[in-house]
Amino acid sequence: MLDQTKRDKTKRVIHPLILRLTHWLNAFAIVMMLGSGWQIYNASPLFGFSFPPILTIGQWLGAGIAWHLAMMWLLVGNGLVYLTWTLLSGHWRKLVPPGPGAIWRDIRAALAFRLKHQTGAYNAVQRLLYSGVLLAGVVVVLSGLAIWKPIQLWPLCNLFGGFYAARYVHFFAMAAIALFLAVHLTLVAMVPKVLPPMITGGKP
Ligand code: HEM
Repeated sequence: MLDQTKRDKTKRVIHPLILRLTHWLNAFAIVMMLGSGWQIYNASPLFGFSFPPILTIGQWLGAGIAWHLAMMWLLVGNGLVYLTWTLLSGHWRKLVPPGPGAIWRDIRAALAFRLKHQTGAYNAVQRLLYSGVLLAGVVVVLSGLAIWKPIQLWPLCNLFGGFYAARYVHFFAMAAIALFLAVHLTLVAMVPKVLPPMITGGKP
């Protein structure tokens, strides 16, 4: 009886509370990780450019590292809660990308500004983006752990081809997440009706 009531309650919202909480905590953690990560990068750039100081978090390398490690715990803890819930509740079914045909059709529709976007159901482009960013999230965390503790976690570090290769992997996984965020925010701006349900839960 209690189970039934619970089930009925979750059906009354588009996005369950746990999804909304983990989504916004994750958004906060990602923004902090990007800003502090760019501060750390600027101390020893991998490429011929640095990030503009206005976009960095922490005034110097030490503060950047302190923010990065503190936010890492939030990102990982929150990410584990989200992934566990996604797997156990069956929510993962909404995120699995369809075949290449459907993805191509939806990409063409998106470029022509006529992609259908329903609240609560994800189209092929969204599924591809969401599953892609989750994968990039796993890679960014594992490569980050490898360059944080290369001695203690040497098998992980070796998996990425050593410390220097892990640094590049970490950078490109970060770039993929930043790119996702730019596309994600553009899509939300183009279809603003999807935003309120991600805050309040919304009615199906
Ligand atoms: C910072 C501003 C952000 C805004 C305004 C925002 C907004 C939204 C909205 C409105 C949805 C629901 C889309 C729909 O129902 O069609 C959504 C879903 C999602 N967002 Fe964001 N988002 C933000 C940041 C992020 C970040 C930083 C990430 C990850 C790096 C992220 C990953 C996701 C994922 C994976 C979903 C699908 C969630 C699921 O159903 O499991 N978002 N976002």
